[in-house]
Amino acid sequence: MRKKIVAGNWKMNKTFEEAKALTAELSGMIQAEVHTHTEVIICTPFPYLPTLQQMVGNGKIKTGAQNCSEQASGAYTGEVSAPMLKSIDIPYVIIGHSERRQYFNESYTQLAKKTDIALANGLTPIFCCGEPLAVRENNQHENLVREQIEASLFHLSAADIAKVVIAYEPVWAIGTGKTASAQQAQDMHEVIRKHLAQKYGEAVANAISILYGGSVNAGNAAELFACPDVDGGLVGGASLKSREFTDIVKAMKA
Ligand code: 13P
Repeated sequence: MRKKIVAGNWKMNKTFEEAKALTAELSGMIQAEVHTHTEVIICTPFPYLPTLQQMVGNGKIKTGAQNCSEQASGAYTGEVSAPMLKSIDIPYVIIGHSERRQYFNESYTQLAKKTDIALANGLTPIFCCGEPLAVRENNQHENLVREQIEASLFHLSAADIAKVVIAYEPVWAIGTGKTASAQQAQDMHEVIRKHLAQKYGEAVANAISILYGGSVNAGNAAELFACPDVDGGLVGGASLKSREFTDIVKAMKA
């Protein structure tokens, strides 16, 4: 069975004190209230990772970074590498978030390299894809998402792609309060899974977790997570509040 995952993407939010407080609250709530096999991940700002990783230890919450360099080391001022993340035991890394594609011009080739180096260092990439509003309005959203996946992931072997988590995040639903309907999410997740199946076969495609992201909250999570091809969520704003994030995790049925 596919892994069910709820991941919080904190983006560039919280001071160190606030980050520790949120992690402490979450640890308590998730430990006490969540009994499912859902993988719960917090993708936090880089400077807090070692401390928060120690705080969550081997408990129910896992940690993730929000990006990594496509380079292993060297003169790349300001960058953080996959080997560095590995060296502090971070299991997950978000790759290709639409904000990085948009504001940092991350290209398909660069994202392919980031995925490679993450995998080579034993990190699980949470690979993001998703279309801007204009693309959906032109009815090209399925083509674009297929292209994003093909361009940055289809060089992988079947064994490697099976280690990747995919997150479908329609850009128009991110931070807007406008969620894709459960049907829109399911339709795209099915398109993604079929595309994976064509390249890698049904067994591989059926083993890959595909998360939905874009204004997920405690009120809409259950309906989204009930879709057959939606294996969880990548949550932005609502992951910054312990009660709401815990309720989102609880919305995932076993
Ligand atoms: P919001 O949940 O704030 O819409 O953000 C979604 C997102 O970008 C998660 O990566």
